[in-house]
Amino acid sequence: MPSNRAAWIPARNAPLEVGPAPITAPGPDQVLIRNQAIAVNPLEWIIQVAGRVAYTWLKYPFVLGADVAGEVVEVGSAVTRFRAGDRVLGLAVGTDKDANSSAQGGFQQYTLLSERLTSPIPDSLSYVDASVLPLGLSTAASALFQADHLALNHPGAHPAPTGETLLVWGGSTSVGSNAVQLAVAAGYDVVTTASPRNAGWLTDLGAGQVLDYRSPTVEADLIGIFGTRKFAGALAVGPGSAAACVRIAAASPGNRFVSMATAPVTFENGFSPPRTAAGMVGGMVGLQLSARRRGVRIRFVIGSDLKKNEVADAIFRDFLPDALAEGRYRALPQASVVGSSLADLQAALDLQRKGVSATKLVVTL
Ligand SMILES: NC(=O)c1ccc[n+]([C@@H]2O[C@H](COP(=O)([O-])OP(=O)(O)OC[C@H]3O[C@@H](n4cnc5c(N)ncnc54)[C@H](OP(=O)(O)O)[C@@H]3O)[C@@H](O)[C@H]2O)c1
Repeated sequence: MPSNRAAWIPARNAPLEVGPAPITAPGPDQVLIRNQAIAVNPLEWIIQVAGRVAYTWLKYPFVLGADVAGEVVEVGSAVTRFRAGDRVLGLAVGTDKDANSSAQGGFQQYTLLSERLTSPIPDSLSYVDASVLPLGLSTAASALFQADHLALNHPGAHPAPTGETLLVWGGSTSVGSNAVQLAVAAGYDVVTTASPRNAGWLTDLGAGQVLDYRSPTVEADLIGIFGTRKFAGALAVGPGSAAACVRIAAASPGNRFVSMATAPVTFENGFSPPRTAAGMVGGMVGLQLSARRRGVRIRFVIGSDLKKNEVADAIFRDFLPDALAEGRYRALPQASVVGSSLADLQAALDLQRKGVSATKLVVTL
């Protein structure tokens, strides 16, 4: 067995430190992969700055990281879809409460993945491009397809038009660009919001209309649009999106449901424990009350929740492999390589925290 190295977070609020790490043999339903590219997400720097209120169960030192692509080196006894040498992408779920496992973290050379959260990738897709997908894809799929979220039809190669329109607030985010593609592949029309510079590629993905979320009339404009359509619900991504989506859903005929990906408080400018915790609870309660008053249902989505139900298989096994191989699904947002070793992951997190536009920051190994 080769040796492993990881970018550890030694304690809450501490910067990542590269050091040796064990390699764990895969359990029956797991695959062990040698990572070639790792993408970073807001989740990882949020845990780093706000570990006292977010993901409080993590046992430090810990290996964070959700988005990986690489080569399978070993498979568990019950794994049937993969063998050593396969090129794959996968969602690493080490930070989940039921895992709480550094062996399943992405920020290292060797990561254990669940077979159900792993997809083969075609030779035409680089590891760098593949690594942008897992968490954005999983979060969008959890919101769109789970029975207790928007419960949309599943995506496929030849979707029957549903005649319904989904609102994706924040289409140029990682979550949003996957949501737009998944909804279109499931037969829905999509209306989305983004900065005007990102409207072109979102339209190419199939979004019917792209509105500027900074426009003072965006809510009224969306209410006007949905007044004449059948509303499939909304996925709210980005600060302030949930409250706006609740008001739009309340005025729209159809599925008055908002699946919410962004927490009610932001962490970009730091974190103060009592204020942030109060803002989190108060923000969620306020949103729930506002939604209930308006006859709208709202629910926070957890990006890895699809592993608990049929949605994981629908996406990672039944949809994504063929969709990627046939060029029906694009690896977006566009990758930007910002490092070439585990030691570069901290700078990548710092850059992500400053804000990106339609870009996924990737470190190669
Ligand atoms: N619940 C979960 O499990 C889960 C999982 C993944 C992500 N998230 C959350 O989802 C959000 C997006 O994450 P991500 O990785 O997809 O983000 P990202 O790609 O880093 O987001 C960058 C994008 O955010 C857009 N944006 C900024 N403010 C916005 C606003 N007020 N409304 C709409 N769009 C806005 C920008 O759009 P323009 O450049 O077009 O202006 C930019 O393209 C974050 O809040 C993250 O914490 C949650």
